[in-house]
Amino acid sequence: MRKISPLQLLVHVAALIPLAWLIFDAATGGLSVNPIQDIEQRTGKYALVLLVLSLSCTPVNILTGWAPVLRWRRPLGLYAFGYAALHFLAFLGLDYAFNLRFIWADVANKRFIFVGLAALLILIPLALTSTRGWQKRLGKMWRALHRWVYLAGGLVVVHYVWAVKSDIREPLLWGAAIGAGLLIRTPPVRRWILAQRARRLTAKQRGAEASRSA
Ligand code: HEM
Repeated sequence: MRKISPLQLLVHVAALIPLAWLIFDAATGGLSVNPIQDIEQRTGKYALVLLVLSLSCTPVNILTGWAPVLRWRRPLGLYAFGYAALHFLAFLGLDYAFNLRFIWADVANKRFIFVGLAALLILIPLALTSTRGWQKRLGKMWRALHRWVYLAGGLVVVHYVWAVKSDIREPLLWGAAIGAGLLIRTPPVRRWILAQRARRLTAKQRGAEASRSA
């Protein structure tokens, strides 16, 4: 069995706390006056937060050089998908009691539902092919496929903006976080950041050598 580091364990515990909290609130009457909406909003929000955290791992690695953060990408992405699946299930089962006619009417008539479904449909193959086995099997295609996660993130932000209707500041902030991460990953920006880090490191080394020889 693969050994799990305390930091990885922390990621799993932190990602499961919102679910435990939601179950606790549901069991003890702690949900809002509209419990179905509360469940939908909370699972949707947790999915988005975890997706953004997963997308932030590579930019954090580029900015800081800290490699262990890269191992959080997959679990965070899978938890994001898990919460998105719960969110969708709450919509199907609690909101519409799995009545396909009404569900289809919502998908066809409400643009925010349509866009949410598109995001979920992108996340499904990404979650299924997230294992090392699939990574090896798909080779270069794997990277190209997994870049679609940014499109899913963008669609989720649009879904959120259209779902809240009035105050769109929060969804736009999440969108800005996704955009900033994407910008940091682009080759010219990435090269510039790495060059700055290398320059700072050599300056530090020179400083240390100078103080040793003094
Ligand atoms: C078929 C797919 C989806 C459906 C049917 C769906 C449905 C809904 C519904 C009904 C709401 C509004 C709840 C309300 O305020 O009344 C909502 C909000 C939301 N959804 Fe989705 N959703 C889908 C996919 C997703 C995905 C994939 C994500 C994230 C990864 C997501 C994240 C959110 C967020 C962040 C909100 C706003 C929560 C808030 O108001 O605080 N949704 N969704």
